Amino acid sequence: MAATEDNLLKSIISHAKEYGFVFPSSEIYDGLSAVYDYGQNGAELKNNIKEYWWKFMTMLHDNIVGIDSAIFMHPTIWKASGHVDAFNDPMVDNKDSKKRYRADVLVEDAISKMQEKIDKEVEKAAKRFENFDKAMFVSTNARVLEYQKKIDEANARLKDAISNGNMEALKQLIVDLEITDPFSGTRNWTDVRQFNLMFSTEMGSVADDASKIYLRPETAQGIFVNFLNVQKTGRMKIPFGIAQIGKAFRNEIVARQFIFRMREFEQMEMQFFVKPGDEMRWYEFWKEKRLNWHQALGLGNNNYRFHTHLNLAHYANAACDIQFNFPMGFKELEGIHSRTDFDLKSHEKYSCKKLQYFDAEDNQNYIPYVVETSVGLDRMFLSVLSAAYQEEKLEDGTDRVVLRIPAALAPNKVAVLPLMKKDGLPEKAMEIFNHLKFDFRCFYEEKDAIGKRYRRQDAIGTPYCVTVDHQTLQDNTVTLRNRDTMKQDRIHTEQLKQIIQESVSLSSLLKKI
Ligand code: GAP
Repeated sequence: MAATEDNLLKSIISHAKEYGFVFPSSEIYDGLSAVYDYGQNGAELKNNIKEYWWKFMTMLHDNIVGIDSAIFMHPTIWKASGHVDAFNDPMVDNKDSKKRYRADVLVEDAISKMQEKIDKEVEKAAKRFENFDKAMFVSTNARVLEYQKKIDEANARLKDAISNGNMEALKQLIVDLEITDPFSGTRNWTDVRQFNLMFSTEMGSVADDASKIYLRPETAQGIFVNFLNVQKTGRMKIPFGIAQIGKAFRNEIVARQFIFRMREFEQMEMQFFVKPGDEMRWYEFWKEKRLNWHQALGLGNNNYRFHTHLNLAHYANAACDIQFNFPMGFKELEGIHSRTDFDLKSHEKYSCKKLQYFDAEDNQNYIPYVVETSVGLDRMFLSVLSAAYQEEKLEDGTDRVVLRIPAALAPNKVAVLPLMKKDGLPEKAMEIFNHLKFDFRCFYEEKDAIGKRYRRQDAIGTPYCVTVDHQTLQDNTVTLRNRDTMKQDRIHTEQLKQIIQESVSLSSLLKKI
């Protein structure tokens, strides 16, 4: 991560804490690694993101319904899904620093460093020569060619080691690339071992193997095992979808970058059940739909891109990510996967229960194929927060930090502020607050100078401030201040609801998709 990107992420983390969005979990006990709590503003923003997703999925699509399945599930589910045997990351420890790393990430980081060396050579040469031809330079410079050869070799060996589950080969690659531990500076590595990412616990009072259960690492399996329940009770006809929002847990080896990679997080997943053979059409359909859903937020269309998976998981016949331009660069925000009939077929085998659909049109039974859309709620939160966070220098020479959160997602929609704490202004402001609070999440504040209060609302992303002054007592007009433009308009209190509603309502955002 470049220094400026690193600084931006640090600024966002400290802003999120200072203004009640995200706190480190168990902070008074020095925190719990990769676990976070959402504060008073964070919880509102998170709920609004959930509502945006839930309404889009279940209200705008008449063939999608939502469920809420339990976190604890029968342990055989995770055997059938492949998580018990294959939901692993390769792990390696440095014997001197006692720090633990993901072996593949260590290699990827070493490869990135080699790439940086190439970039530096190119940069140096570009400064030296006029009419610099980058392609020509890269294909002829001996040092660059040597680095490129090393990169290609390392990439090929990494891919080979991972796809064959060959941990010795991965260890040898770490040795050959002379990777050192950033803390101890030594190359004293343990063997590379597979590490299962699922958390487990015991159910019931007897702690033996039979009662071992897992905290779900994805919400999707709760949908698969309820597929027939929903299909039958909802009289659903293929194609149809089941949506769910809920917690998932992964014992990530390297959990870093704030709420990007957590051990306890939330997913918003939808499994779309289709006729076998139709899955590619629906895969393309959902890629487009999901990208549109993201882009409607107005965080900048250039901040999103697709990344197609070349190495497919054993259950998929097509997969891609929607990546977002986070402060750390473009990274996965949402996964869209064509999961074939792998999960339902496997649950049929392990449960010995038929999980088939009778297609009345074709007069045949089949196991449907599944196209999945899966977005991390916390990553969505980080994408909104990082795109919204702006440090601005104003015309009068002062600074402000403003969160340009899409108005429909903002924690508070309007702040009602009496200009002074006297002359009946607080009472009048409270009257307006009580009038607006049934339609919008409102905030009331009377302490400090009005400029300071505006800054505080900017910092938590409140789209509108309503200021009540002496003129309000005369003619029932107020000033309505816009967060983004800072423009203030004098309007009648009777107009307030309609003006605010037009720009903060979720339905107007949903209509843009
Ligand atoms: N059911 C498919 C599935 O779980 P995934 O790519 O492993 O696929 C889907 O996860 C999404 O969940 C990711 O795109 C990401 O947004 C989110 N996610 C995964 N692991 C996460 C973690 N440790 N912390 C935060 N979000 C995570």
